[in-house]
Amino acid sequence: VTRSLETLETPALLLDRARLRRNLQSLAARMTSLGGVLRPHVKTHKSLDVYRESLAAGSVRGITVSTLREAEHFFEAGETDIFYAVGIAPNKIPAAASLIARGCDLKLTLDNLAQARCLAAAADELGVAFKVLIELDVDGQRAGVQPDGAALLEIGRFLAAQAGTRLQGVMTHAGGSYACDSPASLQAMARRERDLSLLAAERLRDAGLHCEHVSIGSTPTAFAIDDLDGVTEVRAGVYTLFDLVMAGIGVCGWDDIAASVLVSVTGHQPERQQVITDGGWMALSRDRGTAAQRTDYGYGMVVGADGRSLGDLIVTAASQEHGIVAPRVAGDAFDPLSLPVGSLLRVLPNHACATAGQFDRYHLTQGTSLIGEWPKINGW
Ligand SMILES: Cc1ncc(COP(=O)(O)O)c(C=O)c1O
Repeated sequence: VTRSLETLETPALLLDRARLRRNLQSLAARMTSLGGVLRPHVKTHKSLDVYRESLAAGSVRGITVSTLREAEHFFEAGETDIFYAVGIAPNKIPAAASLIARGCDLKLTLDNLAQARCLAAAADELGVAFKVLIELDVDGQRAGVQPDGAALLEIGRFLAAQAGTRLQGVMTHAGGSYACDSPASLQAMARRERDLSLLAAERLRDAGLHCEHVSIGSTPTAFAIDDLDGVTEVRAGVYTLFDLVMAGIGVCGWDDIAASVLVSVTGHQPERQQVITDGGWMALSRDRGTAAQRTDYGYGMVVGADGRSLGDLIVTAASQEHGIVAPRVAGDAFDPLSLPVGSLLRVLPNHACATAGQFDRYHLTQGTSLIGEWPKINGW
């Protein structure tokens, strides 16, 4: 049964099914051509239905999660091969152990001896064995040990010597790729992510340690890497929905962005060339990821309810439940009254993971028709 967008109460999270499928297929095809395997990161969409679509697109083995809540949700739905790709906090170890005890093939991440010691002690106490990947820092952005540093082998040796920890390999996420803006810089970052991971894996193996997994990935580097020899899996998440930050990097076009927020016009400030909507930061998120890019889209790019461009409109300001819509370039011709009260608009997100995180379901669209509703989870 199809319904029209007008039947929704706004703000509402829309998911364009054709774009979703196209996005999933494009990375799956890339992986096939490189002989690679994807371990999609479900943190972007947090939806079993979207995950099923990625399975249908192919080249997928297992999932990556950013919360144990996601692990629990997908495990209950039948997925057992799960990689929790965030450094483990000691207070989460019992929940991880419980998943493992119930048959989940859960792999954990760490980058220091203190975490390794906590895991080893919990393994003895809880009677489970923890599979572990050591996180590498390949771009100075976040967590991880240096691929050529002493800590890698120190942690590896410690894990191998414990009864309850099993070293599985290395992982990294080249988040620095988000600051790249040319094909050459993306390719250099992708090769760096791969090469430093392969170096770390080789060092572990040369030291007689087990290193089965070499897990790398981010959406920009997954599209830029040209050879995956030695890499066992690529993790990518935001490629499913895409967003304005990815468009700014050049990984997609704005018309590939599958998720948007449907908002209603609630008023006007004609003298300020502004339209007011019910889409504030509670709906869009406060993410300002495009602020650091060549084109700053404020809190999101505004298009018509049919998904078509309305010129160069953006959400210039947001409070909790108000969004201010105006031309991106102040002073550009725009008649706010051309969008009467009650008009519907779509806002394309800066960061799809953050925006989707504000909602508990997707309204599936085909053009301007609603063709279904997919639940999603949030929280921890
Ligand atoms: C550890 C890890 N792996 C993979 C990803 C996926 O990256 P992207 O969303 O760019 O595809 C992320 C995203 O933040 C991540 O933190």
